[in-house]
Amino acid sequence: MCGIIGYVGNKEIVPVLLEGLRCLEYRGYDSTGIAVHKGSALNIIKSVGKLANLEEVINKTPGLLNGKNGNNGSPKSIYCGIGHTRWATHGEPSDLNAHPHFDSDEAIAVVHNGIIRNYQEVKAILLRQGVRFLTETDTEVIVQSIANNFKSTKSILNAIFKSINELEGSYALAILFKDQPNKIYAVRKEAPLVIGVGNNENYLASDSSTVSQFVEKVIRLNDNEVAEISKESIEVYNLKGEKLNKDIQAVIKSKDILDKRGFKHYLAKEINEQADVVSSLLRDFLPNHEKQIQFEHLKLTTDFLKNIDRILILACGTAYHSGLVGKYIFENLTSIPTEVQFASEYLNSKALLTNKSLVIGISQSGETADTLAALKKAISYGATLVGITNKSDSALAELAKEHLLISKAGTEVSVAATKTFLAQMTVLYLLAIYIAESTGSSKQKKISLLKQELKLIPQLIDQTLTRAEHYQEHVIKYANRADFVFIGRGINYPIALEAALKLKELSYIHASGYASGEMKHGPIAVLDPTVPVVSIIVPGETYDRVFQNSLEAKSRQAPMIAVAVDGDKKAESIFDTVLRIPPIMELISPFLTVIPLQFLAYYIAEHLGRDVDQPRNLAKSVTVE
Ligand code: M6R
Repeated sequence: MCGIIGYVGNKEIVPVLLEGLRCLEYRGYDSTGIAVHKGSALNIIKSVGKLANLEEVINKTPGLLNGKNGNNGSPKSIYCGIGHTRWATHGEPSDLNAHPHFDSDEAIAVVHNGIIRNYQEVKAILLRQGVRFLTETDTEVIVQSIANNFKSTKSILNAIFKSINELEGSYALAILFKDQPNKIYAVRKEAPLVIGVGNNENYLASDSSTVSQFVEKVIRLNDNEVAEISKESIEVYNLKGEKLNKDIQAVIKSKDILDKRGFKHYLAKEINEQADVVSSLLRDFLPNHEKQIQFEHLKLTTDFLKNIDRILILACGTAYHSGLVGKYIFENLTSIPTEVQFASEYLNSKALLTNKSLVIGISQSGETADTLAALKKAISYGATLVGITNKSDSALAELAKEHLLISKAGTEVSVAATKTFLAQMTVLYLLAIYIAESTGSSKQKKISLLKQELKLIPQLIDQTLTRAEHYQEHVIKYANRADFVFIGRGINYPIALEAALKLKELSYIHASGYASGEMKHGPIAVLDPTVPVVSIIVPGETYDRVFQNSLEAKSRQAPMIAVAVDGDKKAESIFDTVLRIPPIMELISPFLTVIPLQFLAYYIAEHLGRDVDQPRNLAKSVTVE
């Protein structure tokens, strides 16, 4: 999604902004731009497409790199500027619609993350007052509104306060005023914005992993706070204009953010990190399989756990799929009715929650607007929230601070989620065991066996990862297909959904995931010799039925691919291609079955020359509803 960077200090501004934009690239974007003070004017340069395009335009724009604020260019000169990566919401990706945006007098420049919901109403008022608009964006309304309010208030802060009162929606803003060459103004509401506190220099960014590249300390802005940032000071005000005393916090370092560790893509690196991710979570939360799970952040009383009336899991995308695996395991171990909903759909559904309900919010970024909105609604009914996120300094972490589980996977740079999916599943399994142990809902023998098997998972993942070449060799031949169908049952049905999502995201090939029993109720109509069917078929309760459903697909001449365990001879009898995984207990098999399918999506996408780490139209953290 959109990203914001800002800097004020003695460093040459353009290289600093470009470095900041590079750190934001992973979020997904379709245009970029920067605004810097130059002499007594503001200078904006922007470009559709990748950051390299912006750099090309900058290199063709003599003088910008020397831009200084009317200073003499000595090392003491102060440089000030803002930059943005845009993920289009209002208006197509184009040079014109890229941020920053000017007001009509080119006296104010704004970059914006989020959405202004009432922009058409505000625009209509401004149009009636004679303001001319150049772009289709909601952001231009913000800058024109501030300019308009500045005319009447003659005060920058009052103009910003007034505009905030007029605008509805979510926003993180960085604003430059021509007449304040050494200051950045910043505002946020329901969109993250962090000030990086440096030594005689300050930064601003829409995510803490970006500022963590530059500084050790941060100030987090809360909703409806306005910051005035100069080289040596940071003043923060509330909407009444009162100065606030803000905490300065140590930044959580994300050192590995731009390091591919020798892999061609972040995605390949992240898939290959999955054994370590699961292993480190098990080390933290289940150091000894003979002892109880250690969840220090979870202060749920045994009384509450014993009386939970239902569990509702809210999430989006891949996190939703980990939630579906979670449902299966919760119901299996605790017998508590568990429902999983797309966060975006929950807003329209009836609540049905009580103060005995447990709501689990899952989000790798912790900033997904749909998830946050749904969770706020769920807790408004008195339900207790447990948050599962990879980001300990995210909005979800803040919302769920009383009951928070960090699915620690390290920074995931590739837009498509892989290692964070396994991390979420690990935490969900452990949470289900934790509840089962606390309430005595499952036989101790079953729990002990499960814990023992879980401890073996990292080495099984490792063994699976070593088969990458085998997977590559077997899947490339399907790269020219236009449609894929993935099927699975029970605990591997969510893996069919996740595999289809990965293939779509990475390769742009159309793919659907189905519960294998559902094929005959309709989807089987799409099968013919051009549509590969990928069956996830693991020994256990579901094996025979998945086999039967696969035979039905084969009878329609579909090319047949299986994810099956070593030694499964029966699979060879009907599948054209078998992607082998080490033998595994069905209940924990999703940890392995997903891996060949991540590779399938990766290798096909790479073969097709796709932008594997930053697929078109996608964003890493989706901060608009
Ligand atoms: O940050 P979140 O886990 O809340 O993100 C949810 C989805 O947007 C995310 O999983 C998305 O589906 C990914 N692109 C999956 O690869």
